[in-house]
Amino acid sequence: MKIDGVPYRTIWPAADGAAVEIIDQTRLPHEFVTVRLDTLADAAHAIKAMLVRGAPLIGATAAYGMALAARANPSDLALTVAYNVLHATRPTAINLKWALDEMIKALGPVPEPERAAAAFARAAAIADEDVAICSAIGDHGARLIAEAWEKAKAKGASRVNVLTHCNAGWLATVDWGTALAPVYKAFDAGLPVHVWVDETRPRNQGAALTARELNWHGVPHTVIADNTGGHLMQHGEVDIVIVGTDRTTRGGDVCNKIGTYLKALAAKDNGVPFHVALPSPTIDWTVADGVKEIPIEQRDPREQSHIAGKDEAGRVVEVQLVPDGSAAANYAFDVTPARLVTGLITERGVCAASAEGLRALFPEKA
Ligand code: MRU
Repeated sequence: MKIDGVPYRTIWPAADGAAVEIIDQTRLPHEFVTVRLDTLADAAHAIKAMLVRGAPLIGATAAYGMALAARANPSDLALTVAYNVLHATRPTAINLKWALDEMIKALGPVPEPERAAAAFARAAAIADEDVAICSAIGDHGARLIAEAWEKAKAKGASRVNVLTHCNAGWLATVDWGTALAPVYKAFDAGLPVHVWVDETRPRNQGAALTARELNWHGVPHTVIADNTGGHLMQHGEVDIVIVGTDRTTRGGDVCNKIGTYLKALAAKDNGVPFHVALPSPTIDWTVADGVKEIPIEQRDPREQSHIAGKDEAGRVVEVQLVPDGSAAANYAFDVTPARLVTGLITERGVCAASAEGLRALFPEKA
């Protein structure tokens, strides 16, 4: 996608070929800063401290982290250490393990002197595959937005309202995004799309990142407090909900940013279609029950008790929200049971959120 007319991905090889570069997402929306990752430790830090985040981008960064490790030391032992270091950075998004496993699969048969080059090539291919997957999700999902627009138009509406949670746009992937790829494709095709952007406490990925990238692309949007969606749905102001996912089970339970479950409940109660944009590397075929089996990341309570923003002088400052002495908890994800999900938008098309639906699209996994 473009920023001020310049095409960007969220991760790219440095011009000297010795490192990779990323956009530091902790500085958005108020500052645009790129950062160079030279080492395995840099890549692990970038994931853990959320300079990069979003399940597909976490996976791509981990793949490049393995490549940086292979350049420093291509031995089996060093790669196993790198795998473990990267795997420990964040627990919930399954794309992390998927990408690490892909790297080990690709590098295992390669002689040590050739491993670094092979690792950079496989990491670049993983990044390119993510772009292709997200673009295809955009094509399939844009058709759902077009259908929602036809229905809204028939009722006299002047726009089609999409509600999204967290950031599942291009900043969460290598390019295009998952939940926002359909929005970009529909918008570029001329549909009058408007996006309700959940601010997404506690880290505000909606207010900071989704709003930022919709702004860059010129897509009309409105940031809302996380508790607003139910009210809007009751009043016919949401035509379709599209969210991303960090891990979806083989039966279609969807783990995504905390608060997604409540949006799904409100959508069910109001007959609003609730779709999940799902790249296949985000499917965990080993998990049957999402609520019981998916590990939910708990982050620093400071992300809940404090908030950062720009003051009137233009300085980015952090302030404390809660009284001294109050405890805060920071659960990062929740699980929406498959029964609340209208459909999964994958790169191979849209299917029911069920074992049968997923198996029909991915028979090789059956
Ligand atoms: O904690 P984050 O910012 O990594 O969480 C991101 C999300 O929950 C996204 O919705 C999810 O990764 C899908 S990204 C295409």
